[in-house]
Amino acid sequence: MASLPPFLKVSHVKSCVHCHGPKGKGGIWMTNEVKSPDISYKNLTSDEAPYTGHKGHKAYNDEMIIRAVKQGIASDGRVLDSSMPRWSIENDDMKDLIEFLKTL
Ligand code: HEC
Repeated sequence: MASLPPFLKVSHVKSCVHCHGPKGKGGIWMTNEVKSPDISYKNLTSDEAPYTGHKGHKAYNDEMIIRAVKQGIASDGRVLDSSMPRWSIENDDMKDLIEFLKTL
């Protein structure tokens, strides 16, 4: 866990990795229909990458990633399943989060 940014260590210890896996690769079934997707930065910002959730997505940019995390809205405007929590995270921590996703 050495590479986790401070906000993840302090306030969301089990947060993203709890559902998206230690490497953010997803693939964990949440319900009978919803599997957690790959949230590595590379995957999120690509149209091509395979998606391990229940649907494909269009490429995210940083603002769209933050919107997904805070408001549960996917890059294409779809409302994410309620098994993906909505997080209230300050903007500074969001920058750390984006950096964290880049390490996955
Ligand atoms: C309780 C389980 C859970 C936790 C904790 C969780 N997620 Fe998710 N997340 C999901 C599920 C399930 C989905 C897929 C929802 C769907 O497709 O409708 C998802 C979807 C996403 C998506 C959209 C991906 C895409 O391809 O469209 C992003 C981005 C995301 N999560 C980021 C995060 C981040 C960052 C954290 C930590 C701050 C986090 N998630 C914590 C369960 C979780």
